[in-house]
Amino acid sequence: MNFKMVAKTLFGMEELLANELRQLGASSIEIGIRNVSFEGDTGFMYKANLCCRTAIKILKPITGFNIFTEDDLYKKIYDIPWENYMDVKGTLAVNATVFSDVFTHSQYIALKTKDAIVDRFRDRVGERPNVDLDHPTLRINIHIDRNICTVSLDSSGESLHKRGYKTESVLAPINEVLAAGIIMLSGWSGQCDLLDPMCGGGTIMTEAAMIACNIPPNLNREEFGFETWPDFDVDLYEKIEEAALKKVRDFPHKIYGYDTDSIAVKKSRENIKNANLQDFIEVKQQDFFKSEKEKDSPMFIIFNPPYDERISVNDVEVFYSSIGNTLKRSYPGTQAWMITSNMEALKYVGLRPSKKIKLFNGKLESKLVRYEMYEGSRKASKQ
Ligand SMILES: C[S@@+](CC[C@H](N)C(=O)[O-])C[C@H]1O[C@@H](n2cnc3c(N)ncnc32)[C@H](O)[C@@H]1O
Repeated sequence: MNFKMVAKTLFGMEELLANELRQLGASSIEIGIRNVSFEGDTGFMYKANLCCRTAIKILKPITGFNIFTEDDLYKKIYDIPWENYMDVKGTLAVNATVFSDVFTHSQYIALKTKDAIVDRFRDRVGERPNVDLDHPTLRINIHIDRNICTVSLDSSGESLHKRGYKTESVLAPINEVLAAGIIMLSGWSGQCDLLDPMCGGGTIMTEAAMIACNIPPNLNREEFGFETWPDFDVDLYEKIEEAALKKVRDFPHKIYGYDTDSIAVKKSRENIKNANLQDFIEVKQQDFFKSEKEKDSPMFIIFNPPYDERISVNDVEVFYSSIGNTLKRSYPGTQAWMITSNMEALKYVGLRPSKKIKLFNGKLESKLVRYEMYEGSRKASKQ
């Protein structure tokens, strides 16, 4: 039986997510702001969690109603048959998002919801479930838009950007969902080599290798929210996982990563190993500004340089102009994509972007820009 679901995503990734869901077989797809709603069955819910690269969460709405006071909320939540969704011995966590003039404190809404649920259990069975914010058996999501309250179960559990391969964290890592989305926006899907010249912990390279090989991004994840639901069908999940693994393909090109920092190089290698992708990715300690393109074939560059926010650079103008000079001088026949929140610094790159896309890196409004370096200058100098 099909039911409605809502997949949450980052700003600017909505179309990509809708496409992913369409390709996986979702129906009734509707694009919202930072979310896409769709329909599918339980197996599809498992598949969407396993396979969507640009989803942060997949919510399963169970009911909706109008509320005018906090008491209304308490009563309506109390009336939901929570015993169908969890055992009293289980644990719960409530998350609330609120867009309303009447209800303004999301924390308070979450607390009120939790109270109504535990009171219902206590009144019925004399015991109450405990709260566990980190690893609950049931995550509940409350969404209030003016007077409309939607109650959903969070089928993902922890955010889907937590793929499970990153055990080594570097300073200012890019979110996995953002990295995957940037690669998909660039149009790179494995058709040629790819370089991340400032690779840090290796997120862009790891996401890229999974895209190139069509590996489900959440294959290495410890757990999804739905696995602790009473109706979890482990056989169905395994079938879905097996079917997705049959679609894994070979990738005949290579992904390269540079970083000046030896610790970043070590950490990225560790993360890549965790994802079992070492055959496709090569990382070395290398200053991008002293590098040049190693092969004549076409190549993509995708990177996330320091913005001079979380990672500072000595002279941001010199740094960004070195990016432009290196690309121009040493990387002919390359399509380069770079994300930064430093709009002032971007001017010093000195190349005209052929595309600009607004995105957010965490809270930082950023631009993803494309520079196209044509073959020619090096060819000319070789003759
Ligand atoms: C924002 S971090 C990249 C984070 C990475 N995308 C991730 O997810 O972990 C920028 C990286 O650029 C590296 N870096 C700075 N200057 C560099 C240069 N000239 N050549 C190569 N890497 C450089 C820094 O050491 C840092 O690891």
